[in-house]
Amino acid sequence: MSKILSPEELVIRIMTIDDLAAVFHLGEQLFTSEYSSSMYRTWDEYEITTLFNSDSELCIVAELNEEVVGFALATTVEKHNSAWKYGYLVWIGTRPNLQKCGAGKALFEEIKGRMVEQGVRMIIIDTDADNEAGIHFFKKQGFDNIQQHVYMTLNLSKKRKRRTKA
Ligand SMILES: CC(C)(COP(=O)(O)OP(=O)(O)OC[C@H]1O[C@@H](n2cnc3c(N)ncnc32)[C@H](O)[C@@H]1OP(=O)(O)O)[C@@H](O)C(=O)NCCC(=O)NCCS
Repeated sequence: MSKILSPEELVIRIMTIDDLAAVFHLGEQLFTSEYSSSMYRTWDEYEITTLFNSDSELCIVAELNEEVVGFALATTVEKHNSAWKYGYLVWIGTRPNLQKCGAGKALFEEIKGRMVEQGVRMIIIDTDADNEAGIHFFKKQGFDNIQQHVYMTLNLSKKRKRRTKA
């Protein structure tokens, strides 16, 4: 599908507790280990419920024919030594067979409007350096000033070598 969905077809609304499971399962479809190991590792039920409980105004879904087909989950960050309030768009995703139909843009526009109402002056996102689709999408929404970020892991489950005395 690549027809742009009209506002009559696509409903953007605040997420409710009844949407948690649908959002979680849609995210599981999107954030697979093949797509992104870092997003795969950090996407879980607690991530969604934590954002929902702390910033429910910034947790929204896109609905088509009464089915959840997209979501955006965000929060705000205030620093005590700065007058700036930041908006952090933590997760955004749309159903694979509905991508490039305008749902992501509609979700982002709604989140941006809500952040502006909350006094946000800058929106931050992060994603994998090789998430070309995501980066292209964010650039289309006006994001720039890409900064490289290093993500590392330390696997603690590897067997430790015994130290032998000489
Ligand atoms: C990123 C994502 C949310 C975009 O959602 P979408 O519903 O496809 O977005 P839209 O249809 O509203 O597209 C908006 C613009 O981005 C562009 N775009 C979207 N996906 C693109 C892609 N794969 N490649 C190039 N451009 C793309 C569209 O062409 C459109 O441009 P236009 O306004 O000039 O027409 C979606 O691809 C997705 O869920 N990706 C997997 C999850 C992810 O990586 N999320 C980001 C990190 S949390």
